[in-house]
Amino acid sequence: MKKILEIKNLEVEFSTEKTIVKALKNVSFDLFENEIIGIIGESASGKSTLAHAIMSLLDNSAKITKGQIFFENENILNKKEKELQKIRGKKISIIFQDPFSSLNPTMKIGKQILEAIDINPSKQKVISLLKDVGIQDASLRFLQYPHQISGGMRQRVMIAIAIASKPKIIIADEPTTSLDTTYQSQIIDLLKDINKKYKSSIIFISHNLALVSNIASKLYIMCSGKIIERALVDDILNKPKQPYTKLLLNSLLKIDKNKKIKTKIFKK
Ligand SMILES: Nc1ncnc2c1ncn2[C@@H]1O[C@H](COP(=O)(O)OP(=O)(O)OP(=O)(O)O)[C@@H](O)[C@H]1O
Ligand SMILES: [Mg+2]
Repeated sequence: MKKILEIKNLEVEFSTEKTIVKALKNVSFDLFENEIIGIIGESASGKSTLAHAIMSLLDNSAKITKGQIFFENENILNKKEKELQKIRGKKISIIFQDPFSSLNPTMKIGKQILEAIDINPSKQKVISLLKDVGIQDASLRFLQYPHQISGGMRQRVMIAIAIASKPKIIIADEPTTSLDTTYQSQIIDLLKDINKKYKSSIIFISHNLALVSNIASKLYIMCSGKIIERALVDDILNKPKQPYTKLLLNSLLKIDKNKKIKTKIFKK
């Protein structure tokens, strides 16, 4: 398998008036073509910072103090904004946690997807993308505004925008957090289908180990800006090494007892 992304010793700091927050500390990992990996960690562990660094979308207060991000063997940290624009949203795209704040409320859904298609955009292509993300009555939805559709459907529209240019990599940053559990597993299934159909690699970010283990083959566990454990899903679930990972697993098993979701967690 071909390596598509290689992150080497990445360090990111945020400077605020009072302190410096080291959000990423010596983060390294590889992503291969067509692979789905999961990144898990509690709040503030650095997951979104990592996603934004890969997208070259870091805040002005952020500084990359060390490391490299190779996309198709070129370090994107050396690229100018003009070159990055050819990659961002086209070769690497991101699905954000909250579709309401990422969609334009004043623009019809069809137009928003149309604008994301970089080669020969057409209404027909939008309709076909809407169908690919499981929206059946696509012609009607084309003309609607984001507030006129359900939360689950908005997230599907975000996914349609993310795949509009057939990206090599899709970063899904907690894409199901705002959805209820039924919708969550539908979105997971949809991303799996997209991985098969479009051959995009997926970086699935979540704080929910159960969810991630249903989609990813490899897991990276983050804690305070570091990757503290990395392994195949089955290995992490069956023999976690780090105490923090064991803690994550234990909290899952506790949920199991109460909600009887054990079989679901280990389903793949
Ligand atoms: N724009 C910013 N300015 C200052 N500090 C920031 C900024 N963005 C993130 N941080 C800090 O960097 C650290 C990592 O934040 P990040 O958003 O990457 O975490 P996360 O793992 O995505 O958390 P969550 O699960 O809550 O989304 C945190 O300590 C956070 O407060
Ligand atoms: Mg985040």
